Amino acid sequence: MSSGCLKQIVAVVTIRRLPVIWKVFQEEKITMQTLGIDIGGSGIKGAPVDIETGNLLAERFRLPTPQPSIPEDVAETVAEITRHFDWKAPVGITFPAVVKDGVVETAANVDQAWVGTDARALFEQKTGCPVTVINDADAAGIAEMTFGAGRGHNGLVMMLTFGTGIGTSLFINGHLIPNTELGHLEMRGKDAEKRASDKTRQDKDLTWEKWAERVDEYLAYLEFLFSPDLFIIGGGVSKKAERFLPLLNRRAQIVPAALLNDAGIVGAAMAAAHAAN
Ligand code: BGC
Repeated sequence: MSSGCLKQIVAVVTIRRLPVIWKVFQEEKITMQTLGIDIGGSGIKGAPVDIETGNLLAERFRLPTPQPSIPEDVAETVAEITRHFDWKAPVGITFPAVVKDGVVETAANVDQAWVGTDARALFEQKTGCPVTVINDADAAGIAEMTFGAGRGHNGLVMMLTFGTGIGTSLFINGHLIPNTELGHLEMRGKDAEKRASDKTRQDKDLTWEKWAERVDEYLAYLEFLFSPDLFIIGGGVSKKAERFLPLLNRRAQIVPAALLNDAGIVGAAMAAAHAAN
């Protein structure tokens, strides 16, 4: 047989087999799933996440945050969530503080005993799973940039979460600059989060107009420092965006977060998947 003829036979066989090869590839394609757990001031919630779509693969499971929120008790609650899902794979966990290499470095709204705690080691010991720990706002930002309001946005994007405190995450051309902690910028002699968090709005019974004035002043300060192209407003208040977004007057575009309550879980799961690769 001539070599030209052999080549032709090989080509025909390969083309005929392509659908089979493609089918096997599809069937064997592993959907990357990790468990995301979001530690908040009042609740700790988790769900498995399909990190390719950002969809939760089961209903969220929520337990109250132990009070006081000491490391041992919080870690036990986290382990209860992994047991609920019978989870033995990578887990991503958010924490409302500066987290570097799994170690918690600050504690503005959690028990002071966390400062210096190796959260990753503690959670791994309690859950028996490989763990990634990430700042809560950074996790929410990652989720919004991938699946939500920040999708496709380049330039400087700043995500803000308004809750008990103010969390911030900063992205330049899609790359996260972690642990920015801009909720602790000083404004009128106080931490900005003490003036403009959602907790302050509720505690002081501020009208939406009064609270929006404070938020606008805070955003003006952030604009002065960073000139962002886009602000994404997250946290519980993003559900009521129509009450205050029209009252803000900034040069940058301002949009509400799209993923609402799930952003922390999804971002944590993505961080874990990234670490696992
Ligand atoms: C903490 C941040 C956290 C934010 C939102 C602040 O008090 O210092 O680390 O991201 O609250 O929870």
